[in-house]
Amino acid sequence: NSSIVIAIDGTSASGKSTNAKMVAKALGYIYVDTGAMYRTFGWHCLKNKVNLDDEKAIASACKKWKTSLERVDNHVHLLVDGYYPAREIRTAEVSSATSLIAAVPKVREWMKKKQRECIQFGNLVMEGRDIGTNVFPETDFKFYLDACLNERSKRRLAEGVQENLAARDQRDSQRAAAPLMVALGAKVINNSGMTAEETSKLIIEEIQRRL
Ligand code: C5P
Repeated sequence: NSSIVIAIDGTSASGKSTNAKMVAKALGYIYVDTGAMYRTFGWHCLKNKVNLDDEKAIASACKKWKTSLERVDNHVHLLVDGYYPAREIRTAEVSSATSLIAAVPKVREWMKKKQRECIQFGNLVMEGRDIGTNVFPETDFKFYLDACLNERSKRRLAEGVQENLAARDQRDSQRAAAPLMVALGAKVINNSGMTAEETSKLIIEEIQRRL
């Protein structure tokens, strides 16, 4: 498969989604939000009262759930029982649950397989935590976004969500399975004080230089 994958990883609220969408639109690529895939599973676990302290229970919930990938315009969604819980997965409660289930190796294995399957839809801009390090390590296009905690907290508050970003970053960075880190060869962009337009322009220029 000769599809191109642009990997955009980084800390929570570092602007990955906004920028990944802008880059996908500018290049005519398909946007994949892997955080939404993890969130959908986190939400599913909360809904089904899976004990989040029990790795085995989480792993077996993952094995049992019925999902499908669906392309809608230039996005790919992971549906559970035919449904994409777009709004439900954006609460602070789901964010915390998600960073717990995301540390379970069996869950990550499952997600990686699904994420690689997205290549069937064409060229991708995929955002997450481990896309450049673990899901598509072979891609030549890797970006790592970050911004200072203060600015990231403000962005979340502007969205009406209050959450402990520091705790989530720490959990995402310190887990044993595919932790959040800068991939070898990734271009690191600290976008504190930058607009999304400025950040995405930087990313697009870098990609076009190398295409
Ligand atoms: O990007 P977003 O904040 O929606 O991701 C939610 C959570 O999903 C992250 O805090 C992280 O624990 C997990 N995640 C992950 N690997 C990815 C994407 C998300 O572990 N590739």
